[in-house]
Amino acid sequence: MAKVSIIGAGQTGATTAHFLATREIADVVLVDIVEGMPQGKGLDLAEAMPVIGSDTEIVGTNDFGPTAGSEVVVVTAGLPRKPGMSRDDLLEANTRIVKTSIESALEHSPDAIFIMLTNPLDAMSYVAMKVGDLPRERVIGQAGILDSARMRAFVAMELGVSVQNIHCYVLGGHGDDMVPLTRHSNVAGVPLTRALSVESLDAIVERTRKGGGEIVGLLKTGSAFYAPAAALAQMVEAILKDRNLIVPASVYLQGEYGQEGIFFGVPAQLGRKGLVKVIEYDLNNEEQAALKASADHVRETIEALKL
Ligand code: APR
Repeated sequence: MAKVSIIGAGQTGATTAHFLATREIADVVLVDIVEGMPQGKGLDLAEAMPVIGSDTEIVGTNDFGPTAGSEVVVVTAGLPRKPGMSRDDLLEANTRIVKTSIESALEHSPDAIFIMLTNPLDAMSYVAMKVGDLPRERVIGQAGILDSARMRAFVAMELGVSVQNIHCYVLGGHGDDMVPLTRHSNVAGVPLTRALSVESLDAIVERTRKGGGEIVGLLKTGSAFYAPAAALAQMVEAILKDRNLIVPASVYLQGEYGQEGIFFGVPAQLGRKGLVKVIEYDLNNEEQAALKASADHVRETIEALKL
């Protein structure tokens, strides 16, 4: 089975390992700086496999040796948000953590594809690409699947329709100015703008934008992890199975959507080599303006980086 290493065995890292292992997507190596914790979680997960009937191997470690030869490395290492904090407040501390995580992972898995989760997501994906001197195909940030899944969940709650019928596309930076594209989102082919009243749709857009903060406010001691982990597992699977799956994800733009030099949430096709292609939508003036405002914010965060 392919090997996937997850750097950061906290809430999101361990939950991602759980999804990958139970669905037999890959063998998993959990890495964390906390002594004993990744080993304990790895062993606990390994002991769940006989019950689940999965032959996935899972181990935990404090050093990167066992990660050698990983096809995909998922980076969740970092500090999560506390109530009142924005994702950008994590910039300095998480830059240091991501830098060492990427350097150590590359020493043992020089060909790995990196999936980033650590916030502020778009900036941390940029750090990974620069520090690792990696081609853009090999660094992809997870944000859009999560933000779109939140929107899909809220639409499903409102309409009482299966989540499988609901397709939503949230693009832009992973911040409160992300851009839920209501015109492109639909319920079994019916545009959301027709399926929902203006008031309901506006409320769903607003709740989606603040979806991460809503959970931070409820948990008080950390940020969301089930839905982020589910999204990471979907990306890992798309890559390892060479699905050519198109999902919203943060990728390095080279002119697409009129932007270059930043990581930004766009529809991205994922296959065995990582990013296969960026899909470009036809956008109206209002959508373009909203994406530009979000891109300006990401650019400011990236410019504030001290690498
Ligand atoms: N190397 C490995 N692991 C590290 C390092 C490091 N240098 N620094 C911190 N960690 C570990 C912590 O010990 C912790 O176990 O990263 C883990 C992070 O897990 P949690 O604190 O549970 O945070 P989580 O909710 O999983 O979020 C992780 O994702 O959504 C973002 O904003 C969030 O940046 C945060 C990240």
